[in-house]
Amino acid sequence: PQTYEADETQLKDRLAFIDRYPNAARITRLSLSVSFTALAIGAILGIIQALHRTNVFRGLISSADYYSVLTGHGVLLALFFTIFFLTGIFTWGTSNSLGRKLSSPRFSLAWFLLMLSGAVMTSTAIFGGLVGQIPFSADVLYTFYAPLQAHPLFYAGLATWLAGTWLAGVDWFRTYYQWRQDNPGERIPLQMFMIMTTMLMWYIATLGVAVEVLVFLLPMSLGLIESVDPLLTRTLFWYFGHPVVYFWLMPAYFTWYTVLPKLSGGRLFSDPLARVVFILFLLLSTPVGFHHQYADPGVPEGFKFIAMTNTMFLLLPSFLTAFTVVASMEYGARQRGGTGYLGWLKSLPWGNPAFAGCALAGLMFAAGGFSGIVNAGMNINSLVHNTLWVPGHFHLTVGTASALTMMAISYWLYPQITGKRLQFYGVAQIQPYIWFIGMGLMSNAMHRAGLAGVPRRTAEPQYQQFDFAPLLGSMSEMRLQIAIGGSLLTLGALMFVFVMVGTWLAERGRGRLRVDSHLPEPISGASDSPRVLDNVKLWFLIAVVLVAIAYGFPIYSMVADGVFSPAAPPF
Ligand code: HEM
Ligand code: CU
Repeated sequence: PQTYEADETQLKDRLAFIDRYPNAARITRLSLSVSFTALAIGAILGIIQALHRTNVFRGLISSADYYSVLTGHGVLLALFFTIFFLTGIFTWGTSNSLGRKLSSPRFSLAWFLLMLSGAVMTSTAIFGGLVGQIPFSADVLYTFYAPLQAHPLFYAGLATWLAGTWLAGVDWFRTYYQWRQDNPGERIPLQMFMIMTTMLMWYIATLGVAVEVLVFLLPMSLGLIESVDPLLTRTLFWYFGHPVVYFWLMPAYFTWYTVLPKLSGGRLFSDPLARVVFILFLLLSTPVGFHHQYADPGVPEGFKFIAMTNTMFLLLPSFLTAFTVVASMEYGARQRGGTGYLGWLKSLPWGNPAFAGCALAGLMFAAGGFSGIVNAGMNINSLVHNTLWVPGHFHLTVGTASALTMMAISYWLYPQITGKRLQFYGVAQIQPYIWFIGMGLMSNAMHRAGLAGVPRRTAEPQYQQFDFAPLLGSMSEMRLQIAIGGSLLTLGALMFVFVMVGTWLAERGRGRLRVDSHLPEPISGASDSPRVLDNVKLWFLIAVVLVAIAYGFPIYSMVADGVFSPAAPPF
């Protein structure tokens, strides 16, 4: 039996999610369909890059087009795939955890359409650059550093899309406040708590990129202003650019904390610990952005040092997560009859794609965490800065911890919001393992190539002649592994999309839907959490103060010499 399908008797008197909350189900479905489309396109761009860079196959694009392709890959996967998934699962989570409809179907549709139109504008600008006749272009990569310039449509689309995400948050908060009126004094349900803290972090973080785009880059590309300060715009970007990684990760954490324990056959170990972790992310996500600017002149070393210290503190919530999630899995395994120190691992449902994908994603996240510690060290960062090590690192984190979890949990979520049974179960079962093996190859070789000095973001890495064997391996072997790994990954992404499209097109199943959205109570529940944890206003205020401390002085010094003036700050 497929373990996450509840037995029919349990479900007899429970309506499926789609029947209880048809509007939330529709918004989730719409968000996920855009997300999966972005994934499919992004994955195809991924294999093109991987084969081009490694010299295995260069027939599809010219090296000049490589940068538009890479921009498309970065933006479609890191922004649109992940964040449309987030709006999907958070919409589901809001209704599911509050037990309540969204406050207004029109408003929900409006924010979704705003996000969609922004994404279409930005994608048009990027892919226009690949088609000769069209005057659009955007080969500014996913970080769009000034003075690189894209067509105004690129920036306008990003701003529109961003406004859509803000309104999505308003929708969830509004639904929460209505629930609060009817349930004074009750603890915030855990999933809702996670959604709220994540969105508060997002409001703080996106302020930076909104100012960057609206005040500087869009006017610059429209020709309204002559110059911008590259350091200031980079600083505004990374003010957003670090917390966005938690915006990618929080849907995965949300899943690992609230759904994975059930898929393992048990319950969440501790609700209070989960709340503490999300508060720590709200507090510490933003005041660390300078760890992406260790190599930037003009940022005082002291502020880089503060960012490094905060970054190392951020390891704490991740270690807490590793502990809580593994403890919940072990509890589940023992409920299923598992025994022994490690023998319980065998009792986990490795044949269930939703479980296997989440567990493998978590495992790879541990490896990504360790290479992240190397990135975060002010001194050893210079060893790996802008080398292929960095894509090696973030394909483990956003590219697997987030991406694979999102794919895996869709096997469980999608039937609930479509009313269809999952199709092609056998394909789904092997898909997470294909991704895991592909990423094992690609990421490992990228890390080693980075240590050997191979740069990232280039269509022509001129390092073919060197041989780093036996220490790091030979260059040709690393290139081959990147090509094979990248191909497996793209295969994995397309297998996933195949299962989803197959499920979407299938007839609505006979009898009752068998995937159950009900989540069991944690072992240590909300009543064990100190009430102060639910005081999200307090945590929000502290987060704002920390941001002001970390960024106030450096930003002041950058604008003191004139907002649009690129002159160096006075250090
Ligand atoms: C960059 C391959 C999936 C996000 C890259 C690069 C390669 C690659 C080879 C480095 C290019 C260079 O620096 O010259 C692949 C393949 C994938 C995949 C084959 C399989 C489908 C993903 C996923 C995500 C992602 C799932 C995120 C959710 C990124 C980002 C960049 C990147 C943000 C950097 C873009 C930039 O430098 O501006 N990818 N990737 N990739 N990838 Fe992937
Ligand atoms: Cu960071």
